[in-house]
This record gives sequence, structure tokens and C-alpha cells, in this order.
Amino acid sequence: MKKYVILAALSLAAAFQPLRADEGMWLPVLITQRIDDMQAHGFRLTAEDVYSVNQASLKDAVVLFGSGCTGEVVSRNGLLFTNHHCGYSQIQQHSSVEHDYLKDGFWALSRSEELPNPGLTVSFLERMEEVTDAVLKGYVPTMDEAQRDSLVKVNGDAIVKQVADPSKGIRASVEALYYANQYFLFVYKVYRDVRLVGAPPSSIGKFGGDTDNWMWPRHTGDFSIFRIYADKNNEPADYSEDNVPYTPKRFFTISRAGVQEGDFTFVYGCPGSTKEYVSSDEVRYVGEVSDPEKIALRTLRLDIQKKYMAQDQAVRIQYSSKNANVANAWKKWQGESKGIARLGTVAAKEDYERRFSAWAAGTPYAGLPERLHALYAQRNPVYRAYEYYVETIRTVELLQFASNVKSALDAGRPVAGIADTFFKDYYQPIDEEIFVAMLDAFDKHMNAGYKPEYFRRQLAAYGSPEAWRDALYAQSLFTDPARVRALTPDDLPAVTADPAFALYDAFYQWYRQELQPVIARLDREIRLAYRDYMRGQMAFEPDKAFYPDANLTLRVAYGHVAGYSPSDAVYYAPVSTLKGIMEKDNPEIFDYNIPQVLRDIYAEGGHDSQPVCFLATNHTSGGNSGSPVINADGNLIGINFDRVWEGTMSDIVFDPDYCRNISLDIRYLLFVVREVGHADWLFDEMVFAD
Ligand code: ARG
Ligand code: GLU
Repeated sequence: MKKYVILAALSLAAAFQPLRADEGMWLPVLITQRIDDMQAHGFRLTAEDVYSVNQASLKDAVVLFGSGCTGEVVSRNGLLFTNHHCGYSQIQQHSSVEHDYLKDGFWALSRSEELPNPGLTVSFLERMEEVTDAVLKGYVPTMDEAQRDSLVKVNGDAIVKQVADPSKGIRASVEALYYANQYFLFVYKVYRDVRLVGAPPSSIGKFGGDTDNWMWPRHTGDFSIFRIYADKNNEPADYSEDNVPYTPKRFFTISRAGVQEGDFTFVYGCPGSTKEYVSSDEVRYVGEVSDPEKIALRTLRLDIQKKYMAQDQAVRIQYSSKNANVANAWKKWQGESKGIARLGTVAAKEDYERRFSAWAAGTPYAGLPERLHALYAQRNPVYRAYEYYVETIRTVELLQFASNVKSALDAGRPVAGIADTFFKDYYQPIDEEIFVAMLDAFDKHMNAGYKPEYFRRQLAAYGSPEAWRDALYAQSLFTDPARVRALTPDDLPAVTADPAFALYDAFYQWYRQELQPVIARLDREIRLAYRDYMRGQMAFEPDKAFYPDANLTLRVAYGHVAGYSPSDAVYYAPVSTLKGIMEKDNPEIFDYNIPQVLRDIYAEGGHDSQPVCFLATNHTSGGNSGSPVINADGNLIGINFDRVWEGTMSDIVFDPDYCRNISLDIRYLLFVVREVGHADWLFDEMVFAD
């Protein structure tokens, strides 16, 4: 009887076990291996619709935007959507006191008002293909690693040279995947006349700021709109008035039908970097050493910045972008280390390694986890010193500035512009306080073997970081804008002798001589061990589908709309609405102070249920910002822009219970374009599926 009950319970569980999609960032070229599973989860298109080199496919509507974001084409006239935070620097560059597009938003009301952005590119993936055999052509097992490296370089360069054609905007690269067990060629067509069409005010596009960053419930209208231009033959060209809107091979039709919990979602974009197959040693280092230490150091800096920002509006403006940058990874690391601890990933990997080692005995993969363990034991203390140096000494603004000025003088470049940019956003009391906190932290947390001789000597001479600060900021010429602006290469001796530059340089030389060679040697050995370990893991689990770690190449991630439970007794629903914006609205709080126009629109009534953002289970990472979120029919339903912080360990280990990507609901974009931007002319070129 008992046995029967258990069996019945088991088969019930099996019957109701939802198919797990969620984890994985798959290579589009290999999508034929996933398409059955995608369709089983609700996708209604074919592999050829997703990726094809013979016909236009969805991949032809996705671009790498700049060098670290994704974007999507949404009209036959090259209209492009991405995130507000991806277009931020372009919006900023066009802003002045008279036209503050960051603050007020920008809306071109005709093509002639669209603003060019020199230097900004979008890259279309023309094709990708495996080239492992060609890259390893001539390889013989008797070669050592240095010989293999140079062979790979020579063969790879030759492949790139064959297909790349800068005059036609064709860029190519050969990328190592699966720790250099496979090589793929990526061929891109790069367009370089990309114009700004529209951006909401930051109080919409950045609504919630760093308070809400990595968080749910979220209400950020994180989008901006661009247009790609081409020459008369639809080819890439430098900006010219004669250029015409680019005609894409394919663009996204837009769905206004909305999303519901459980709906299939597909994110097509360029995640930057993940490490899913690393050993327990790496996970322990990240989760228990690196993340916690970097978080603590950044907390010190953020607290100092915030204290002064709260006292003075001008300082708040000066440091808002810097503060946001520091806070972004700070918050992400907190989710990552907590997630690793919650999941017991170190113990789970150790267990996996024990089983692997037992299996691997007598095979070419024997001893790999043990070898990695030994290598990490050598690397970690040195790497920790390196990370500590980067997060302390390198964050003191005056020291970095001194080095930048010195480099400019060395190269004969003018320094006045560098000085103006620096001083515009520099507040010395913040920097002085950070100087003390950082030197103090470095002194307390590094043991003597990892302190540069100069640092030990000077600190002993001054007696305290405070005394060192008093002397350095009083003596350094770099605190004086007029003196820095007037520097010429003739002043190089004074620059080199300056206490700010001297401190910067002492640490830099120490890093170059003591740390970097050791780290480079060990990292290389670790990479080589991973090459074997990756192959070993694939042999150990022959039925498992291994997706390659992210490397900013185009990937398919599919999942479904889903809420989550971040803690006991709390459940987050997956869709946020305008009502939530009004609940947060507060003119006293910068991050929550919405534009008056939004209050007025809301007061008209009827907008309570206007959707704003939604959550899904797609496996994404930094670089997926701006990625199209696509429904079962291949239509655009959203724009990816973030993850929830409780799930950021997905760069190392994916947890279907906590890992959620955050997307802008495309209907909020349409709402803001119409109601706030009054840029209805853009709707004429968009194509709506429903
Ligand atoms: N967390 C997102 C990402 O990693 C958004 C960052 C920009 N927004 C911000 N409030 N700092 O890029
Ligand atoms: N905001 C991130 C980006 O700019 C995406 C968030 C993440 O998934 O890390 O790419």
C-alpha cells in the first residue's frame, strides 16, 4: 500500500513536472539541436526562422549595439530599439544646458531631426560557422602549447583575412569556445551611421535609478530609439547627409497582445561573459573571497560619495554617474555570492569533482580537478592582491588622473581637455576621504608579502594614511586645474616626481613586475587545464547539452514569463504597471521623481493597468541589455535590460527558482512614445502583429 502511494506520487510528480527550459545560452547556428525543445515549450517557428544563411531570419534583425549592448531592428527603414542605459552616452553627448536631453528626453519629429553619433556602430551577424579543423590545421600532438598557440594565431588570422573586408564594413573574428576545444568564425557587417531618434527623460528611462537597479518590482522605461543609415546601395558608410535609412533583411513585427505568466519567451542577444564549467576552487574564490571583499571596499566608497552627495546638489550631479557605476557591480556581486552560498554550489561542485575523478581514473582526464585545485592554491593569493589593488589604489581619482595626464604628455597629446573633463566632475573632499579609506584597507588586509616596498616605506614615514593624504593633496600639482592645463612635455620631470603620480606608479610597477607575470603564467595553466576538463566533463556526461560560456557572441536563450519568491512568504508577480510608478512617485526622491507630464496623463484616468516591465526565466548576462524579447510567434514583446539581484549567480550557476531577467514591456515603449514624446510618426513604419 505504502509502496503504491509512493509510486503514484512519483508518477504524478513526473506528469506535472513542467519541462525545464530556462538555463542555457545557445549558439544560433546549432539551434537545430534545440528547436524541438523550444517548440515543446511553445515556440511556433522553425530553426530556419531563427537562424539561416540562405534566407532572412530573425538573426538579421538583431545587432551588437556599440561594443557591449544588443539592439533590434523594428522597421523596414532601419529603426532600432535598445536600452536607455545603452544609448546613455550618446544622449549625454547631444545634451547641453540649453538642450538637456538626458533630463527632458529627445524626440526627432522627422528624419531630418535625427542626430548623428560619430563612433557608434551596429554589427549584424552575417554568419557563424565552426572552423576548428582549419584553425588546428597542421597541429600534431608533439607540439607544445606555445607552438599550438602560434599555429592557432596564424591559421585564425588567415581565415579572418580571407573573409574580412574593411572597405565593405565586413569584420570577422575567430573565437575560441568551450575553452578552446572548438573555434568558430563570426562574420559581421558593421554600419557606422547610426542616429538618435528618441529617448525618454531619464526620470522615465532611468526611473528607480540605483535604488531599483537589479530589483523587482521594477518600473524603468529603459529604452532609446536609433536609426541605421546606409549609402545608396544599402552598404555601410560614414555619416553623410546623402545616406538613406538602411533596409534590413528582416525586422521585428511588434506584438501588443501582452504577456502572461507561463508564456514562452525568447531572448536573442549578446551576453558578455559567463563561467558555468569552472571548478569548486574558482566558485569558492568568487563567492567567499573576491565578491565579499570587493563589496566591502565598494561599500566604503559608496558611503563616502553618498554622504557628500546628500549635502550638495552640485556634488550629487557630479557623482551620480560614477556612483551608479560603482553601485552596479556592487549590487550584482551581492546576489552572486549569496546565490552561490544558498545553492551550496561549492559543495555541489566538490561532489561532482569527486565523481568525475572516480570516473576519470585511468583516462586522459585523470587528475584534472586536483590539478586545478593546486593551480588555484597558487593563483588565488596573488590574484586577490591584484583585485585588492584595483579596488583600492586604482579607485583614487587623483592618482588615476595623474597617470592619464602623464600618458598624454608622453604621447605629445594636449592635456587641457583631459583636465577640463576631470575637474568638471571632481570633488576633492570625496577623493581625499576615499584615499584614506582605501590606503587603510590595503594596509590592513594585505599581508606584508603583498605590499609594494614604496607603500610600506612611505606609510611608515608618514605614520598614518591621514598624514600621507594631508601631505599628498597639499603638494600635488594635480589638484590645481590651472597648473595641469598649462602642462607641456617639458614639465615631465615635475610630473614624474609628483607625489600623486609617484604613488600611482609605484603600485603599477609593482603590479607589472610582481603580480602580473605570476598571474599570467598561472592563468594560462588554468586555461589549459580547463581545456581538458571541459572535454572531460562532456565525456563524463555524454547526454548533457553543454552550451558554451558567453563571449559577446549572439545567443538564443528561451524560457517563460514567471514570477518568483525571493524569500519566505513573499511572491513577486511577473508584470509591473503604471500604478506602481505612481506608488513610487515622490518629488523629494531623485530616483522616484517622475516628469509632471506622466502625472498629468495618469490623472486623466484609465491607465492603472498600463504594463511597464515583466519577469521571465531567460538565461541572460551583461551584454544582453537591449536584447529583443520575442514571443512564441517571433514577434517583439519586450526589451531585456536587467536581471534580479537574487539570481545574478547565473553567470556561474543557474537556479530556475531565482534567476529572472527583467524586460521592458514593449507596450510601455509605445505608450511613452505616444503620450510623452508625441512622436506618433514612428508608428507609421512599425508593423504590428496584433
Ligand atoms: N543592472 C543593469 C546592467 O547591469 C543596468 C545598469 C544601469 N543602470 C543603473 N541604474 N546603474 O547593466
Ligand atoms: N544591465 C545589463 C547590461 O547592460 C544586463 C543585466 C545583466 O543581465 O547583467 O547588459
